[in-house]
Amino acid sequence: MATLSPALKQSSSVVVDHAKGSWIYAQNGRRYLDFTTGIGVTSTGHCHPRVVKAAQEQIGKVIHAQATTVMHQPMLDFIDELGTVLPEQLNSIFFSNSGSEAVESALRLAKMATGRQNIIAFQGGFHGRTMGAASVTSATLTVRSGFGPMMPGVFFAPYPNSYHYHWSEEETVEFCLRELDFMFHTQTDPKDTAAFIIEPVQGDGGYIKTPPAFMKALRDIADRNGIMLICDEVQAGVGKTGHFWSHQISGITPDIMTMAKGIASGFPISGIAANESIMKLAWPGSQGGTYCGNAVSAAAGVETIRVIKEEHLVANAAERGVQLAGLLHPLAQRHANIGEVRGVGLMRSMEFIGDDGDPDPQLARKVQLAAEDGGLLTLTCSPYNNVVRIVPALNVSAEEIDEGASLLTAAVESVLG
Ligand SMILES: Cc1ncc(COP(=O)(O)O)c(C=O)c1O
Repeated sequence: MATLSPALKQSSSVVVDHAKGSWIYAQNGRRYLDFTTGIGVTSTGHCHPRVVKAAQEQIGKVIHAQATTVMHQPMLDFIDELGTVLPEQLNSIFFSNSGSEAVESALRLAKMATGRQNIIAFQGGFHGRTMGAASVTSATLTVRSGFGPMMPGVFFAPYPNSYHYHWSEEETVEFCLRELDFMFHTQTDPKDTAAFIIEPVQGDGGYIKTPPAFMKALRDIADRNGIMLICDEVQAGVGKTGHFWSHQISGITPDIMTMAKGIASGFPISGIAANESIMKLAWPGSQGGTYCGNAVSAAAGVETIRVIKEEHLVANAAERGVQLAGLLHPLAQRHANIGEVRGVGLMRSMEFIGDDGDPDPQLARKVQLAAEDGGLLTLTCSPYNNVVRIVPALNVSAEEIDEGASLLTAAVESVLG
């Protein structure tokens, strides 16, 4: 008899029967408000009728049209559709299947385009579980510990998380830029450095907005030194921040961008976008893969982008995000064990600390379980795993935000009193 690997952990006891919009209906007969969206994936809600229809129609036409053998229309349509929401400069796209694969492609492209080997990543960043992606990840040891050595040539620079340093944002940015400069003098010469890889809003690191001043400084340093700026938009992309892409918060444009999760409402497809002049520097055949750019996923992706545009879901995410922040922020004032409530748009999180001020993962877990008990699904994250995060669908309603916030408040109060 075969069983599921015990290394695959679930954070809830829910077995899904079906799901619709912001709701998951479980086999136990209960319904849950899903503020996890499958880790930021079901951007248009579960089973949006237009996405379902597009996928169903595509399944009847062709499921697998292997992209290094033949071309298929949904991939061409998806490129056109993404072209309407991507910065003009990022006009060339390569598709893969998962966020990690997109990160691998971005790292390979940066190395080939610059002829340099080193990568600078930032502390607390999450980029995936495959070996290259895990090698630039430092949000958690679960993707690094026990199977090193990791890919060489990776350097971790301090990330401007002002809560972590207990400094103002300005002081933190200044410190991190000073340390980056020190790194260039002591560890990796700019002329050996192929790329920076950064999440404009850290996801698994704890839903932390990278200060725009830092993003702008990175853009400037990259430009002056011929270093590629890779923005990993796998989690924070596709509307969640109230901007279509999270790098738009700071008004910069990356050289290479990764995307996945929300681009196809749950169908597995990911990609990188870059200027064609950069993409041309990749060696022929260095991009590919059996399943890259699956036809059904691409058809779902086309409809996802259309739904987001036509139903004005980025604006909805911005408005509902403000509503959510207004409901959650008072919790930090009422409870000393909440170190910070933060986030941007629909990406919101709460940092739990013990009476001594240290990170308290047990409190976060208790709140998550209490929320599930009350009918709300949440996620935990951060290097200490002491952060509860929520990321509702882009089309969440005002009533659902009220209900989710009151379920989360009740969960917090049942644990903290
Ligand atoms: C920013 C970021 N990059 C990459 C990944 C890896 O994506 P996947 O799990 O699809 O491989 C994730 C996953 O959470 C992510 O949040």
